[in-house]
Amino acid sequence: MTQLNDPATLAALPGDFAWGVATSAYQIEGAVAEGGRAPSIWDTFSHTPGKIDNNDHGDVACDHYHRWREDVALMKELGVDSYRLSVAWPRIVPGGDGAVNQEGLDFYSRLVDALLEAGITPNVTLYHWDLPQALQDRGGWPERRTAEHFAAYASVVAGALGDRVKLWATLNEPLCSAWIGHLEGKMAPGATDITAAVRASYHLLLGHGLATQAVRAAVPGAEIGIVNNLSTVEPASRSEADVAAARRMDGHTNRWWLDPVHGRGFPADMTEVYGVDLPERAGDLATIAQPLDWLGLNYYFPAVVTDDPHGPYPFARQIRRPGVPRTGMDWEIDAGGIETLLMRLTDDYGARKLYVTENGSAYPDAVLADGTVDDRERTQYLQEHLAACARAARRGAPLAGYYAWSLLDNFEWAYGYDKRFGLVHVDYKTQRRTIKGSGHHYAGIIREHRARGARAA
Ligand code: IFM
Repeated sequence: MTQLNDPATLAALPGDFAWGVATSAYQIEGAVAEGGRAPSIWDTFSHTPGKIDNNDHGDVACDHYHRWREDVALMKELGVDSYRLSVAWPRIVPGGDGAVNQEGLDFYSRLVDALLEAGITPNVTLYHWDLPQALQDRGGWPERRTAEHFAAYASVVAGALGDRVKLWATLNEPLCSAWIGHLEGKMAPGATDITAAVRASYHLLLGHGLATQAVRAAVPGAEIGIVNNLSTVEPASRSEADVAAARRMDGHTNRWWLDPVHGRGFPADMTEVYGVDLPERAGDLATIAQPLDWLGLNYYFPAVVTDDPHGPYPFARQIRRPGVPRTGMDWEIDAGGIETLLMRLTDDYGARKLYVTENGSAYPDAVLADGTVDDRERTQYLQEHLAACARAARRGAPLAGYYAWSLLDNFEWAYGYDKRFGLVHVDYKTQRRTIKGSGHHYAGIIREHRARGARAA
């Protein structure tokens, strides 16, 4: 395995490579009832007993809404070039459609100014799962109108921040919103209905297309992308049944999200598996396939699957491979997967520009008596995945940046606060932030890459 300290490795990443960190609104902001914000589906879901480990919720989270100056200073200390954040729709248009909440826009406007002042480029995601509850009450993503309201909200945010923000993403991981939120029921809104899930997936992608048009109209020079969480998928055996199961899992996880935005329509083999009619109207597929400036890849784990004819959609079950190392999420570690996926986006989908918009690992970190956090497993994970990114870049992937997930330990959805993904440790009792060993290591990589660029110039 290539290590990052191999001299050729860092050199494979372009001189203007964007080193970043990522977060999302509901996971860090807290202040759920302040500044004119209304509830989102995640407020409702997290306050439903039994949905979240320890019955945790995002009411306070990392209190970033009040501590954003400190968090920008932390990013500056790490030396990152870019910060991927998400805007909370229920702060901007609390009712989902209609009245705009200026206080919400002002919050993000101040944050953007502080980032730019610190020399950090904002990369803004418009939807990271926090649908205004008011829209859920009117049917949520299974309803077409939600896509139209999303575009209207996107237009408001782009109009307010577009003079300073050029990097935009429409959706974060629509797979989670549709499949985990509407089919598996493990995320908000907690539905378990294939028809609702397929309709939600369709309207999420329609919303993506409409929002892309809206941002492009509002922001001259905008660079717009979509962020998908993808996995490599392999059959557990060479049996015909397992190979077909892997094809279905690939359709469910990867092709369903990539094909439509690349003008290939929804994969016909998968519509057959789901057995649900798409709510398609003339012109929708062209709207969904708006030209994009970049694609975002969130990569965490590979999938090795076996046929499971009586199991849940898509009738393929991920197996546990003995002896494969795992993170604290119990996710298999396979750095080679990020290289494979970057090459797939390059070769099969013709990506013009790629960002790794998320990649990271959770471990049960603690602050030691000497005030440090010794998270060497995360450091190794980071090293191996960055080395794999560099290999993809050397093979021709147009990789423009990498965002570590996450800047801070934060609210890890159904797992609550026990799963810590941060480069920076958060003590939730005191809100004290401590840069972990992996954070210092990441800062060192950034410095080393910059120094190489300076030496080469
Ligand atoms: O915390 C999440 C994030 O919100 C979306 N991508 C995966 C991360 C880790 O599970």
